[in-house]
Amino acid sequence: MKTAKKIGFWVLIAFVLIQFIPIDKVNKPVNPAKNFIELKKTPRKISLLLKNSCYDCHSDETVYPKYSSFAPISWSIKSHINEGREHLNFSVWGTYNKELKESMLRGIIQTVQNRTMPMPGYIVYHKDANLSEAERKLLTNYFEEMLKSKTY
Ligand code: HEC
Repeated sequence: MKTAKKIGFWVLIAFVLIQFIPIDKVNKPVNPAKNFIELKKTPRKISLLLKNSCYDCHSDETVYPKYSSFAPISWSIKSHINEGREHLNFSVWGTYNKELKESMLRGIIQTVQNRTMPMPGYIVYHKDANLSEAERKLLTNYFEEMLKSKTY
């Protein structure tokens, strides 16, 4: 019992101490001339779906949830955002070359179709991101059309 108490005490201290290692929540400024939604004049319905279900991890317009204030959850969230932006950042769409855009469009269609995106863990706390079958179809149709007509 004594050891359990000691361990509990140190776990608590460690938890308090890690709160002093914050994450950087400052978004880079977004240039509308490079941002996917403005650049492509995306229909309102599609923009809303993208903003609600993808933009938190795949843009520089991340809205951080309340629970992102506590380490170590905050670190995990931040690493998902960094990784998400590396794979696809809608805010800098205009800076990607043709090949990158094509492979990203294919990735978007595939991940939305097979339900790997938005990340399942994210949907639990973001009900808007829980895309229905019809919404998934709307998104994939839109991106398939863009890929086919080469209007990316
Ligand atoms: C909670 C954060 C989060 C959200 C929300 C999210 N993603 Fe991702 N996404 C990631 C991370 C992290 C990766 C990189 C690791 C991986 O592939 O799982 C990724 C990778 C990707 C990739 C590249 C992977 C591949 O196989 O090509 C695509 C494309 C993608 N996401 C599309 C989307 C789309 C479209 C949405 C919205 C419908 C979305 N994501 C929502 C975090 C997120």
